[in-house]
Amino acid sequence: MAIQHDGPSRTKNKKLLKWVDEMAALCRPARIYWCNGSQEEYDRLCNELIAGGTFIKLNPARRPNSYLARSAPSDVARVEDRTFICSKNKDEAGPTNNWMDPAEMRGILGKLFDGCMKGRTMYVVPFSMGPIGSPISHIGVELSDSPYVAVSQRIMTRMGQDALDALGADGDFVPCVHSVGAPLEPGQQDVPWPCNEIKYITHFPETHEIWSYGSGYGGNALLGKKCFALRIASVMGREQGWLAEHMLILGVESPHGEKTYVAAAFPSACGKTNFAMLIPPVEGFKGWKVTTIGDDIAWIKPHADGKFYAINPEAGYFGVAPGTSIHSNPNAILTLRENCIFTNCALTDDGDVWWEGMTDQPPAHAIDWKGKDWTPASETPAAHPNARFTAPAGQCPSIDPNWENPAGVPISAFVFGGRVSKNFPLVFQSYSWEHGVYLAATMGSEATAAAVGQAAMRRDPMAMLPFCGYNMADYWAHWLKIGRSRVAAPPLIFRVNWFRKDENGKFIWPGFGENMRALMWIVDRCRGRAAAVESPIGWLPPASALNWEGLNFPMEKYYAIMNIDREKAKVEAEEQKEFFDKFGDRMPRELLLERELLLSRLNRSPETWELNKAA
Ligand code: GTP
Ligand code: SPV
Ligand code: MN
Repeated sequence: MAIQHDGPSRTKNKKLLKWVDEMAALCRPARIYWCNGSQEEYDRLCNELIAGGTFIKLNPARRPNSYLARSAPSDVARVEDRTFICSKNKDEAGPTNNWMDPAEMRGILGKLFDGCMKGRTMYVVPFSMGPIGSPISHIGVELSDSPYVAVSQRIMTRMGQDALDALGADGDFVPCVHSVGAPLEPGQQDVPWPCNEIKYITHFPETHEIWSYGSGYGGNALLGKKCFALRIASVMGREQGWLAEHMLILGVESPHGEKTYVAAAFPSACGKTNFAMLIPPVEGFKGWKVTTIGDDIAWIKPHADGKFYAINPEAGYFGVAPGTSIHSNPNAILTLRENCIFTNCALTDDGDVWWEGMTDQPPAHAIDWKGKDWTPASETPAAHPNARFTAPAGQCPSIDPNWENPAGVPISAFVFGGRVSKNFPLVFQSYSWEHGVYLAATMGSEATAAAVGQAAMRRDPMAMLPFCGYNMADYWAHWLKIGRSRVAAPPLIFRVNWFRKDENGKFIWPGFGENMRALMWIVDRCRGRAAAVESPIGWLPPASALNWEGLNFPMEKYYAIMNIDREKAKVEAEEQKEFFDKFGDRMPRELLLERELLLSRLNRSPETWELNKAA
């Protein structure tokens, strides 16, 4: 018997109503609840989460209207080895994605989802990725048996009746089905963080569908984020002529009000949130300001005026907590003052949260992310390394006045940065659009806690390795084409690396706010007012082109982090060939040629490019 629900009074969209009934018949929840997105609803669901033991209300005097959740220890990060792209043809998914035949996957999912929501509520969560009504935005609907997901989506997206109204009777949406995979038998006691050992994060690119099973955490469960806004949206972007990228968007504002917008891709847990909220050093940058549009995802569409315009499709930050402090990221700390959900952070004795690196002095006692007593003498961290905050974007002090502008903001530069401790300069510029796409495509980065089971070092093209919904070689071809044919002059492309280490394993570059010095050179290059020196890898900033005021950074150190070891660069170029070979005939010729051009420049005489001589 069909379950009664509010759907028909909330929307006239037949496709949506039919799909909800079909999914309810499969998943067999005890109830169906249509989220409206109101504060009253949010508060009620949070209270239910407290009653069920998932949420702990934080001390309202210290952290108003905020909660702490502790996940199951087996469910703490994205699961890349359980993430699938189910295109009809294996080659469409490409060598960097896990693939399964769609019919076979539907068979598996059909069994797993059969009765998977028994005893639970199915939340119907309508949401808009991007400001409601923006021509760059798209609508999704997530069906989830997790109230944690429902309340998180209210922070992370424009969730509720407004999204349903924007969808209208005939609008199209991306269907996202999510279950924690823990049905409750009559009388069975629930646990604070239900999940299943079996996990499937599944995408059907041809039908733009998402099915996620077994996890309640982050990108595995908040399906608007990586699953929709990157994997499915990258497919939509290819079909429709736009870009969905793992990029922050920031604005650099001069004392005279000149505004330059930059989009930057860094792999997970490699500094996007920090860079997006950067506060320039006082000395040397008086009157300069960095404003924040987004910290994780950018949707970028070519506009009739010949430029790319970008929006942040999200409405909140799901940011890495450990390492976030008033020194490393003051804007984030201020963003977190209220209305937040914290997951896998430590709980202090006065009812607030704490994580490694938040304060110089750790608390004398806390409850760790597993709910156990913790002291600074403990051998395990108080917060999980991938502990995260969920915070409304509008609370960020540096939020850009245009962050919800439906038209987006015009992008002048794309920046790509990995986490590379050796042999990689602080900042340089590509020679051309094609060379820039090559630099982005060959980006390498070292492992972080954002996903389980990563190799120590891996290629992470455009920071999209885990997020591209189709063959990466076709994605590069799409990039090459869109920059040449859809805009009058494409943005300039830069590479950066804040993570070079010395022989003692210490970061050489001070990073964080000081990254403004590299960013300023990028902006000045876009504005045609900064010098650059030719090198085998691209245009480098001579020391004189950077603003050093207020920073004591010896020039030998600068040359050390800008130095390119020719022999190591050649080895690197050989490794790139192995990577490119995996893509066979689909490999764009331009990128193969760029690699050869690099090799030929590396074989030229050193005098032509040594930076310290040019300074
Ligand atoms: P996702 O949300 O996972 O996509 O990642 P993100 O790129 O937004 O990561 P985030 O900004 O939260 O990066 C967190 C990590 O990067 C922390 O370990 C920071 O300490 C480190 N980090 C950020 N900026 C810098 C920097 O300029 N220098 C150094 N050394 N570390 C940095
Ligand atoms: C990332 O891993 O890049 C994130 C966090 O931004 S998650 O939403 O869990 O994917
Ligand atoms: Mn991310």
